[in-house]
Amino acid sequence: MSKSNLKIITILGARPQFIKAATISRAIKLIKTSKNNICEKILLTGQHYDKNMCEDFFGELNMPNPSFNLNINGGTHGSNTGRMIDSIEKILLDEKPNGMLLYGDTNSTLAGAIAATKLNISIFHVEAGLRSFNRKQPEEKNRILTDHISDICFAPTSIAVKNLLKEGISKKRIIYTGDVMFDAIKIFKFNEDKSGILERLKIKNQDYVLVTIHREENTENLDKLINIFNALGKIKIPVVLVLHPRTKAKLKNNNLSDLLKPLIISSPLGYYDMNFLEKKAKVIITDSGGLQKEAFFHGTPCVTIRSETEWIELIRCGWNKLADPSNELNILKSVEEQLIFNKNKVKPDYYGNGNASEKIIAHILDFYKRYSHANS
Ligand code: UD1
Ligand code: UDP
Repeated sequence: MSKSNLKIITILGARPQFIKAATISRAIKLIKTSKNNICEKILLTGQHYDKNMCEDFFGELNMPNPSFNLNINGGTHGSNTGRMIDSIEKILLDEKPNGMLLYGDTNSTLAGAIAATKLNISIFHVEAGLRSFNRKQPEEKNRILTDHISDICFAPTSIAVKNLLKEGISKKRIIYTGDVMFDAIKIFKFNEDKSGILERLKIKNQDYVLVTIHREENTENLDKLINIFNALGKIKIPVVLVLHPRTKAKLKNNNLSDLLKPLIISSPLGYYDMNFLEKKAKVIITDSGGLQKEAFFHGTPCVTIRSETEWIELIRCGWNKLADPSNELNILKSVEEQLIFNKNKVKPDYYGNGNASEKIIAHILDFYKRYSHANS
């Protein structure tokens, strides 16, 4: 392997993973020379399957077509993850890749990690080391388990590096890179309303609040869900809700769709339109991990309806504020405070320089160089 001819399998399942992976696929293309050749094959688990939650991103973000699609979704966490492990293992046995790239903290991430480690395939975990310290959250379990069996943990922030060290993960396995989602933001500019989304939603620049809600802890607990939507219905400026299919189904199945009436509803959007709306919003209200950071990148104050967040630096600097999902008044008060947040406030450089994906690819190549020396 002196000439790096590597086969890497990338496991993707959920919407945010398509966005993160797009930056790495782009970096792989850029680095391709006669000496460095990474062949990336994308394996879709099928966790997200609606066209606007999956397929559309491949075209929009200019990603390689998936080589495999397992079409596995739904069921309990155990069954969902177990079925994925079984099917991923079969593909790994056929394909014999040198390594596996994993993103974030979904069930698809954990399934990939377990399948790969059982076959001694090297694991590279992008967005490693984040912790909410809420062990009940499915994402927290997925990310802890994945980090501990990864060969390299690519950490997006210095806090993530510290979390990994505190858990006893060897320094040699941790690389600080910055955040690939910041790379994605730098690639697009979001300066013009390309699709006319403001007009379609009948809203004006800086005159609306943008909302996404989908986390299990908020949607599976009906008291919290009702409380959140009651609060949203009382906000005094237009509220645009970009509705995740999970939340839509939960409201519908519990005869709660009337809670949507005061809001402007949009189906899931493409990456550009979504970020354009984030940039032009007065405040973002969310429980999404990705939106908390994108709000900051775009200079839009944020309210996160959760008891804790893994992106703690954004709470410390004030651009993000936690609101208690069970407390309507607390949600409304947090929104009021963020509506008057001073947008000239400094935005510290938490997420690197926008070249995290290039650093990750360089480190993967270096990993195999060291590996081939060790075995020669
Ligand atoms: C998953 C991730 C979460 C991530 C989110 C990104 C886990 C445990 N959770 O949560 O970390 O923040 O993706 O959006 O992996 N559904 C559809 N169509 C789709 C996708 C989902 O109808 O294309 C509905 C189905 O009813 C499905 C439900 O949403 O059962 C939940 O989907 P799932 O992928 O299990 O969890 P998310 O809430 O999307
Ligand atoms: N996103 C999108 N269209 C949407 C909603 C979100 O393109 O309708 C993007 C968003 O810009 C961000 C990512 O999806 O890059 C966040 O995904 P999500 O909120 O589903 O998951 P999380 O980040 O919470 O894991």
